[in-house]
Amino acid sequence: MPSDQRPQLIWDLPLRLWHWALVICLAGSWITAEAGFEWTQTHFYFGYTALALVLFRLTWGVFGTLHSRYASFVVSPMRVFRYLKNIGSNPTSAGHNPLGGWASALIVGLIGLQASLGLFISDDIFYAGPYNSVVSDHTADALAGWHHRIFTLIQIALVMHLAAVGWHTWGLKERLIQAMFHGKKNLHESAGNQEISEHRATIALVLMVLATLAVTALVYFAPAPVFDDFY
Ligand code: HEM
Ligand code: HEM
Repeated sequence: MPSDQRPQLIWDLPLRLWHWALVICLAGSWITAEAGFEWTQTHFYFGYTALALVLFRLTWGVFGTLHSRYASFVVSPMRVFRYLKNIGSNPTSAGHNPLGGWASALIVGLIGLQASLGLFISDDIFYAGPYNSVVSDHTADALAGWHHRIFTLIQIALVMHLAAVGWHTWGLKERLIQAMFHGKKNLHESAGNQEISEHRATIALVLMVLATLAVTALVYFAPAPVFDDFY
């Protein structure tokens, strides 16, 4: 590490655990969607968990530590434009860079939308999301179309996410991937002190429990399914 840089704790533990849990959920949702109808129920469980993780992230974006808060990294389009003009020569950002901030919010939004759409659709054979009976067959088919299309958008966003992370890690030597494990980034001393001093783990646990309860209630109190269409 150059002598004018020092490691600073940037990503709190809850955010890091959340990130890798989301990776597992998304991979699980994808694999179980492709694996055949026997896996549909498991697909639902991965989807519900993804929804709870998204709810958690939105609240953590308000109550989390400095670099996890949306107000600290969703910046004006002007700043994104300035960042893009100097792309390749910007100093390492403490948290997300201006473009990465918007990309992060976009990925979370797409996954939240994807999981919410799933609640209303069915595979037209055996399984239906818990709110499938509140929409007409026609609407459910249209929403299923969006469940497919939005997944394509998620895939595109993730390819770009991995390309950007790879470029910063190996091209610009910023060690971003390592930072999503241990939380620390090497920052130039001109960045000043950007370090967080706590993880707020108890608040995170409460928010995660509330998010899980909210999704559980959403599923548990869903209207009874209508089976007429299946016979
Ligand atoms: C299903 C796959 C993935 C999803 C859905 C995903 C999603 C996300 C999201 C939403 C963020 C922003 C965190 C925030 O909300 O503040 C993020 C950040 C990050 N992700 Fe991923 N990610 C995935 C896979 C990966 C993989 C495989 C790696 C490593 C090889 C990775 C490395 C990172 C890093 C380093 C950051 C922080 C970027 C920064 O410093 O601005 N991600 N990811
Ligand atoms: C982030 C979460 C989710 C992701 C990434 C995801 C992804 C997918 C994908 C890629 C497919 C299409 C498989 C194919 O056409 O080969 C699919 C189908 C399906 N998903 Fe999801 N899903 C998620 C959440 C949910 C949830 C929460 C539910 C319901 C509770 C759900 C219900 C369904 C159903 C019923 C199908 C079959 C639709 C059909 O046959 O047209 N999904 N999902």
